[in-house]
Amino acid sequence: MASPDVMLDIISLRAHFPTQDGLVKAVDEVNLQIGKTERVGLIGETGCGKTVLGMSIIRLLLPSARIAGRIIYRKRDLLGLSEEEMRLLRGREIAMILQNPATSLNPVLKVGDQIAEVIRLHRGLDKDAAKSEAVQMLDAAMIPEPSKRADQYPHELSGGMKERIMIAMGLAGQPSFVIADEPTKGLDAITKKEIIKLIRDMTVDRSMLMITHDLNAAGEACDRIAVMYAGELLEVAPAQAILSDPSHPYTQGFIRSLPSRGLHPIAGSSPSLIEPPTGCRFHPRCPRAKDICKREHPPMISLGKAASVRCFLCT
Ligand SMILES: Nc1ncnc2c1ncn2[C@@H]1O[C@H](COP(=O)(O)OP(=O)(O)OP(=O)(O)O)[C@@H](O)[C@H]1O
Ligand code: SF4
Ligand SMILES: [Mg+2]
Repeated sequence: MASPDVMLDIISLRAHFPTQDGLVKAVDEVNLQIGKTERVGLIGETGCGKTVLGMSIIRLLLPSARIAGRIIYRKRDLLGLSEEEMRLLRGREIAMILQNPATSLNPVLKVGDQIAEVIRLHRGLDKDAAKSEAVQMLDAAMIPEPSKRADQYPHELSGGMKERIMIAMGLAGQPSFVIADEPTKGLDAITKKEIIKLIRDMTVDRSMLMITHDLNAAGEACDRIAVMYAGELLEVAPAQAILSDPSHPYTQGFIRSLPSRGLHPIAGSSPSLIEPPTGCRFHPRCPRAKDICKREHPPMISLGKAASVRCFLCT
């Protein structure tokens, strides 16, 4: 039983996709607890399963996905809810800050009206109240001249401004749990910094899973970081500990591959999710691999309340 401080308890989650080539095990036996008002960053190489994990929580995967496990939110298993029950939760309790403003914003509707619609839908305000609340949301998202901006169409706004609109829209239903998938993708360095600060400020009283390739962004916005590799979590630890003293060889390699840390890529390439390597999934690329690593699958070992690691040599 999860403690009352836990907002989301992901238990033995699997999300597999049948394909012509075989079963793609995009998420495989993932366990993760996210506390009330805790922000967790989810990092890992492209294709390791981050978005599939986020989409599993908000139940937006294609019907062909084979999902197993439990995702407990406020004593309810999200995976057991009907689509109608889920529709009532989406946006209002659990929301997603969508990744791509270019495809997620309606080009023929004023941005203020798009946010007001979310507010009306989830908070039951009338049209005028929702419109004025939308302007307040734009103001909270640090958008200058919010009343004027509310009357503009997406194409009239810069990339950074559109990302702020996406954040305001994601939070318009006042959700308790937010999933942000690559919120800084494609932004220049200065805008990226501003957006990270905005996300941090606007999620102070909420729980968040922030999916990103950008470890530094995760370090700035999040309390803990979970590292994913080939569908599994390999390490979870407080953000500062991961940045300054990572335990897992993959996390160490991921950090060394950052431009700010010397740009030394990890040798080899991401494994197949249809037939992942036996034993430790990272063993073909691990500089510390031993014989046991090829034969046996390392369990996730707890290193205390907030940290755990999946490696025979890290405990
Ligand atoms: N509907 C689907 N059918 C089959 N395979 C899928 C489907 N959706 C995702 N996958 C596969 O699942 C794996 C994980 O995909 P996912 O989008 O979660 O990666 P990611 O970690 O978010 O990558 P990126 O950092 O590039 O966004 C990939 O191999 C992807 O091809
Ligand atoms: S279990 Fe072995 S192969 Fe896997 S990360 Fe640890 S040392 Fe490397
Ligand atoms: Mg993704």
